[in-house]
Amino acid sequence: MVQSEKMSALGQMVAGVAHEINNPINFIYANLSYVEQYTQDLLKLVQHYQQCYPHPPQALQEELKAVELEYLAEDLIKILKSMKVGTNRICEIVLSLRNFSRLDEAELKAVNIHEGIDSTLMILQHRLKANVQRPEIKVIKEYGQLPLVECYPGQLNQVFMNLLANAIDALEESNQGRTFAQIASNPNIIHISTIKADNQVIISIADNGLGVPEAIHSKLFDPFFTTKPVGKGTGLGLSISYQIVTEKHHGRLYCNTTPGQGTKFVIEIPIRQFSHDAAA
Ligand SMILES: Nc1ncnc2c1ncn2[C@@H]1O[C@H](COP(=O)(O)OP(=O)(O)OP(=O)(O)O)[C@@H](O)[C@H]1O
Ligand SMILES: [Mg+2]
Repeated sequence: MVQSEKMSALGQMVAGVAHEINNPINFIYANLSYVEQYTQDLLKLVQHYQQCYPHPPQALQEELKAVELEYLAEDLIKILKSMKVGTNRICEIVLSLRNFSRLDEAELKAVNIHEGIDSTLMILQHRLKANVQRPEIKVIKEYGQLPLVECYPGQLNQVFMNLLANAIDALEESNQGRTFAQIASNPNIIHISTIKADNQVIISIADNGLGVPEAIHSKLFDPFFTTKPVGKGTGLGLSISYQIVTEKHHGRLYCNTTPGQGTKFVIEIPIRQFSHDAAA
């Protein structure tokens, strides 16, 4: 209870920060296009000058040499391009943060589930990408044709976040004692698939980590059950997710695992919530 209140306060803060960043970054992004256009115009103008006056006076020749005009022209365009890529990326992250921490979570809403998963993946990007110990974690998406799903999007995103973070933790644990090359030849994979079945959607998130030992299988969803070191895990991720899926969305959340081979968490939720059906 306390934990989910904390999460919602955090969600509001994240949404607020994302909102504040959104305006200035859009401003920069929009203006970059003008800067690019003006730069190209100016460079064209200089070229034109050079064609019309191929033999400028000595002083000007020296100045042209000093600024290394040719290099400058080439580099300027490149710099502007990379600034655009950079701001574009910030825009995407901000959008993901806003999507992820949707403030409208108090209301049931029909949403595109794939957008929620993609926003969550974007936020976790820093944990998925390659580092000195291992290559990147491959994410294989197999998205089916899904209708909009009626849900509390902020809460469902929290479930995706918990399951994906657990998968990454499990993969990192399975990497212990393996070299970069060994991991590369048997890479870390997260497999996300979605499918519509009758009146519900089924979302599964699978990793090829070490799996869950039989002995603790029944404890996974217990509050405060964790196998992670103190300070790393609170053991609340799965119990909160379970509550969100079963109580809030009248769905099912369960785990299939083969020790040594990997773990798959499956979320099943109805496309429409029946309180709504009753009212209709
Ligand atoms: N994908 C997985 N592979 C293997 N074990 C898992 C996986 N997901 C969860 N577990 C096991 O279930 C336990 C409980 O998970 P849960 O998400 O509830 O807590 P946590 O990850 O330990 O901590 P928190 O999520 O609060 O930071 C984990 O400590 C881990 O032992
Ligand atoms: Mg967890």
